[in-house]
Amino acid sequence: MDHGLWTKTKDMRKKIVAGNWKMNMDYEEGLSLFSEVLNMAHDEVTGKQHIVVCSPFIHLHSLVQMAKGNTKVSVGAQNAHQAESGAFTGETSAKMIRSTGAEYVILGHSERRQYFGETNELLAKKVYTALKHSLKPIFCIGETLQERESNVHFDVIKSQLAEGLYHLDAGHFGQVVIAYEPVWAIGTGVTATSAQAQEIHAFIRKEIAAKYGQEVADHTSILYGGSANPKNAPELFAQPDIDGGLIGGASLKSRDFTDIAKVFN
Ligand code: PGA
Repeated sequence: MDHGLWTKTKDMRKKIVAGNWKMNMDYEEGLSLFSEVLNMAHDEVTGKQHIVVCSPFIHLHSLVQMAKGNTKVSVGAQNAHQAESGAFTGETSAKMIRSTGAEYVILGHSERRQYFGETNELLAKKVYTALKHSLKPIFCIGETLQERESNVHFDVIKSQLAEGLYHLDAGHFGQVVIAYEPVWAIGTGVTATSAQAQEIHAFIRKEIAAKYGQEVADHTSILYGGSANPKNAPELFAQPDIDGGLIGGASLKSRDFTDIAKVFN
């Protein structure tokens, strides 16, 4: 594929820089961080890229109110329950999240898979329920270090995609954002090289094309996550199949997060 064609297919896709605050920021801290992000995005983000801030549940409603009328910044949650409603003490449903005005939800983050036992099968249900309530899933996939070292990383990615998402029809699949997050790169300061990330992103797109056709694959945003920062983001985001990032640690600093988003200016 020549570079011109790469650029052309890459242009079709929405560029997204999403922040994952994880379990950080009390209420006031979250509001002030978000207000900084809104101001910086307003002054400095000049391209068509979209910013999504995925906060703890407690912030969602307030952040949505703060972002009202802002077309560059959306708000998302970090998890949602698979059931519609009911006796699930302590859980939050997709419908509740959507009712705050939040538009996105991270599903299948490796920390949820690892610490809360979330399986592909469970995630398939969560994805379905989220889409039913018009929440766009940011669906995370990625291999552990051990899986990479045993050379099964392509198989792992393939089954995470198939078991987590392939129950969707093409129309619903089109609402999903994929985030490739190698587990060994999350919060470790070790980033995948741009070549390693591109290799997997291209593989993911090829798999999607095989299942849903090239057109759908060409329009699917695939984000990279794992120790992304303002220094390494330009090279990562320049790869033909990398359409943005899911940012953990660096999303807690408005300057760093905005600088990452500005890579697409
Ligand atoms: P990190 O986290 O940027 O701190 O590595 C990314 C993520 O877990 O989404």
